[in-house]
Amino acid sequence: MNDTHEHPAAGREALRITTLQAHILEQQANHPGASGTLSWILSALSISAKIIADRVRRARLENVLGSVGTENVQGEVQQKLDVLANDVLMRTLAGREGVAIVASEENEEPVILRDGSHSVPRYCVLFDPLDGSSNLDVCGGVGTIFSILEFQPGRARAEESLLQPGARQIAAGYVLYGSSTVFVLTTGGGVDLFVLDPGIGAFMRVERGLRIPAGNKTYSVNEGHRAGFEPGLRRYLDWAQAHGYSSRYTGAMVGDVHRILLKGGVFLYPSTQKAPEGKLRLMYEANPMAMIIEQAGGKAMAGPHRRILEVPPVGVHQRTPVILGAADQVDAVLAHLGP
Ligand code: AHG
Ligand code: MN
Ligand code: MN
Repeated sequence: MNDTHEHPAAGREALRITTLQAHILEQQANHPGASGTLSWILSALSISAKIIADRVRRARLENVLGSVGTENVQGEVQQKLDVLANDVLMRTLAGREGVAIVASEENEEPVILRDGSHSVPRYCVLFDPLDGSSNLDVCGGVGTIFSILEFQPGRARAEESLLQPGARQIAAGYVLYGSSTVFVLTTGGGVDLFVLDPGIGAFMRVERGLRIPAGNKTYSVNEGHRAGFEPGLRRYLDWAQAHGYSSRYTGAMVGDVHRILLKGGVFLYPSTQKAPEGKLRLMYEANPMAMIIEQAGGKAMAGPHRRILEVPPVGVHQRTPVILGAADQVDAVLAHLGP
């Protein structure tokens, strides 16, 4: 008999109301030495996500759909909202004392905000401000992907701090602007899921410690490129099709990976004859997604024997092949690849 009149929510996670802000503070309290710097950065990302979500929802009404007529460093057409989302992230992160360097898909060079040593750690924030932006004109899901690394003061060039393998990420996450806006975050202790409550303007925690389910016979790949895939991958596709697999592919990595995180399956953006390193960018697309997938019990590989998180970075915008998802489904792909 409980005579302390404890509310049932005290003992049951499902009954508690926890915002992303509260979650971040909770995590900080679990690390007694933490300075709070990382918490401020995560809160800047959450504010950016709310602003971008709002702009995405009103894009058609405000006439900010379509391209700006310029190309980014990847030679890809920039959508107006790519530029807008990039600007929102830059402006919120610039105000955070703990951010040393910011690197974006939309900027050729990283932006050094603060250099030199400091009494508390500083961080590098890398991001794809709007992923899948070609989906915007048709109301498809788009996202923001981010990766956080610790800044290493004292290097000859501050930018060198960025070139750390993904295994050294301090935190990673993405925001999916879909039928609802979801924020997925890991700081290395599992993966947590938040949904934006538009009524109160806060991200609410809806799931903790997500685990990718096994046994989902679904692959996600642009099969239009099949002729350029290596023979092993073509064998995998033949095998999958002979074994009752389904295909799901939206053309926005955030949407495709989110489905896999919740339902299982495998996502591939492999090397092709035309693009031997694939298309996706290591530092702000593949690495953060790989950390999330591994933290949820899945696998994220750049090739048959190499984890994405172990690929040595040589440039901020370098590309890598990607095979990630539920461990059983990634293994099924790897079993068909050559040595
Ligand atoms: P972005 O819009 O940031 O350039 O990224 C698009 C990426 C990724 O989201 C998606 O998985 C892939 O490009 C789709 O490429 P294909 O059109 O070649 O399938
Ligand atoms: Mn992208
Ligand atoms: Mn993008």
